[in-house]
Amino acid sequence: MAEQTMKAIRFHENGGAEVLVLEDAPRPAPGEGEVLVRVHAAGVNPVDSAIRRGSFGSATLPGTPGLDLAGVVEAVGPGVTAFAPGQMVFGNGRGCYAEYALASAAALALKPANVSFDEAGSVGVGARTAWGGLFEVGGLQAGQRLLVHGAAGGVGIYAVQLGKWKGAEVVGTASAANFDLVRSLGADTVIDYNATRFETMVEDADMVFDTVGRETQERSWQVLKPGGILVAITGRPSEEMAQQHRVRLGRVGPTSAPPDVMQRIAELLEKGLLRTVIRKVFPLSEAREAQILSETGHGAGRIVLHVN
Ligand SMILES: NC(=O)c1ccc[n+]([C@@H]2O[C@H](COP(=O)([O-])OP(=O)(O)OC[C@H]3O[C@@H](n4cnc5c(N)ncnc54)[C@H](OP(=O)(O)O)[C@@H]3O)[C@@H](O)[C@H]2O)c1
Repeated sequence: MAEQTMKAIRFHENGGAEVLVLEDAPRPAPGEGEVLVRVHAAGVNPVDSAIRRGSFGSATLPGTPGLDLAGVVEAVGPGVTAFAPGQMVFGNGRGCYAEYALASAAALALKPANVSFDEAGSVGVGARTAWGGLFEVGGLQAGQRLLVHGAAGGVGIYAVQLGKWKGAEVVGTASAANFDLVRSLGADTVIDYNATRFETMVEDADMVFDTVGRETQERSWQVLKPGGILVAITGRPSEEMAQQHRVRLGRVGPTSAPPDVMQRIAELLEKGLLRTVIRKVFPLSEAREAQILSETGHGAGRIVLHVN
């Protein structure tokens, strides 16, 4: 049988956004436990640019970026019973900047009807990372004080909402342009990081959830109460600093969230307890522009590639 092809964004060498090209590529086939999804929307994450640059070592080339998708199940691999062709799904996949992409069945959930494909495609990495960091790594409890750095970002928007859902007091840092958004997500207090040093306003925090890193991270130890925890999704926080301040350090990775996290996120989206924020939608052919915008590190919510 002739190999089936699809349109995909690919890079044949590591480098800047200019290495991304839209071209024909082989359509992947689902293996054991995998689902082939006809992609309608793909989320653009900062890590996509890092992978493109080769920051995580030598990946197989050519590569197709993209870890977030929403679309329709085209086919399922051996052993997959949870999904069937024709179902609308969203979650984490790989090579999602393409007309078709593979996902582990465990990393998908049915797309709630009240959420569009573009919206659903923006959710996966952000919501998974926030859930894993707040609840699994950090053990956030009702009544605790949570400081979220980068509260308007693609991960921060979920950290704020999930923190409130859990019953925590939530303080977020954002630039003035994103103030109203962060408040609308439920934050009790928003601090304009350009105008006010957060450490003059926050003390005795049970948790800092840091999506920003660098100097913001270094200044965060002092706002934690003894025994509190700095949960970092970026940067290189030191165990020594944690010990000096008599607090704990937690690092978040792709496996920090529980296996059924996408189902739980889907339930919250369906009930209107969680929502996404889209910064901008680009057509698949403008993946370069989308990644360049993502690389600014500023702006509210997640960038999405509209594929289909
Ligand atoms: N460990 C993991 O598993 C994991 C998972 C996902 C992401 N990450 C990493 O986490 C980082 C954030 O990811 P993301 O997707 O949330 O990025 P993003 O969507 O680009 O959001 C970044 C946010 O940070 C805000 N910001 C920038 N400087 C700030 C400061 N000094 N204080 C407070 N807020 C500031 C920006 O808001 P303004 O527009 O208001 O400046 C923007 O909303 C990236 O480095 C990413 O690679 C790690």
